[in-house]
Amino acid sequence: MTKLYRCDYIDSGINFGQKSIYVCCKSAHEGGGMPVLSNSYKNLDWEKIFEQKKQWQAQIASGNPPERCTGCSHIVETAEIKEDYTFRFVDINSFINCNSQCCYCDCWSTDGFQEKSLLPIFEELFDKQLLKDSLYGYIQFAGGEPALMIDFDKITDLCIKNGMQNFIINSNGIKFSEGIKNLLENTKTNLFISIDSGTKEVFEKIKNVPCFEKVITNIERYAKSAVEGQSCVWSKYIIIPQVNDTMEEINKWYDLSIEKGIKAVVLDVEREWFKKNGRIITKNMKKMIENIQNRCKKDKIKLDYYEQLKCLYKIH
Ligand SMILES: C[S@@+](CC[C@H](N)C(=O)[O-])C[C@H]1O[C@@H](n2cnc3c(N)ncnc32)[C@H](O)[C@@H]1O
Ligand code: SF4
Ligand code: SF4
Repeated sequence: MTKLYRCDYIDSGINFGQKSIYVCCKSAHEGGGMPVLSNSYKNLDWEKIFEQKKQWQAQIASGNPPERCTGCSHIVETAEIKEDYTFRFVDINSFINCNSQCCYCDCWSTDGFQEKSLLPIFEELFDKQLLKDSLYGYIQFAGGEPALMIDFDKITDLCIKNGMQNFIINSNGIKFSEGIKNLLENTKTNLFISIDSGTKEVFEKIKNVPCFEKVITNIERYAKSAVEGQSCVWSKYIIIPQVNDTMEEINKWYDLSIEKGIKAVVLDVEREWFKKNGRIITKNMKKMIENIQNRCKKDKIKLDYYEQLKCLYKIH
């Protein structure tokens, strides 16, 4: 029998970028990822967008994916092709405003970008019933810093009113957000805070802002707001070669996270280094990861991986 293939994001994904709209935000694998749905936010034609998706869906189904999807670990074998044309995996990266200056991110140094509110687009999507909640679906804010995003609270309130329950928020934790607290208390939200360090010294080397104590206080406040079994606050560590790739630092980060009430941790490696290094990690990184795996097992702490490590371990 001929094999059939599919990708969740081709079926139901949308990624709002700064100027363009994409299918997904998966850029770690070979081929680069992120097929483009629209090159601008002007005159969006949702019918045309779904026609394009249908075409890519057929290509993927037959094992001949579009160039940007070639080699992607999100393509899986399937028994049937989904024909429900709605968005269920929603990534929001349309904002760049940030109060940190992370060494691995260029958001904060981008000039001349004028952020526009996504509120009218969300209103239209709900009016047309194109946005649906689902068990494995999500609305994810990355950006930029969500705590500073225009209309963040209005957009999340509208989503909640329309039955959306699954949110993923990536925040640097510098500014405490009542909107994020509301999501932790009232929805199924996973909040990821990338501390990447266990000491003020290494934090400041990475983030270039003197906010270590503030972030630690806020992560503790958020952890207290999360409703157990429903929401979760994750402490994140991105391993950055020559900056924080020591056993000592990752252990300090782990200890501090647990001390502040964190019950879930997440690991990744720096994206640009990972790509340049042929998408493999060093022996030292493997040891650091194994150490955290063992500690989590012993302490019954949840452990997950982010984009690059997911790509490496072929996890979707
Ligand atoms: C672009 S950030 C935006 C959200 C928020 N400001 C934050 O820092 O979490 C989204 C996520 O991508 C991660 N990230 C950004 N640049 C990265 C890189 N070069 N390698 C790995 N992860 C990266 C961040 O740590 C964060 O967890
Ligand atoms: S196959 Fe990969 S790159 Fe293509 S849409 Fe799916 S997740 Fe994105
Ligand atoms: S906090 Fe987030 S958006 Fe800001 S510079 Fe760091 S990774 Fe980029």
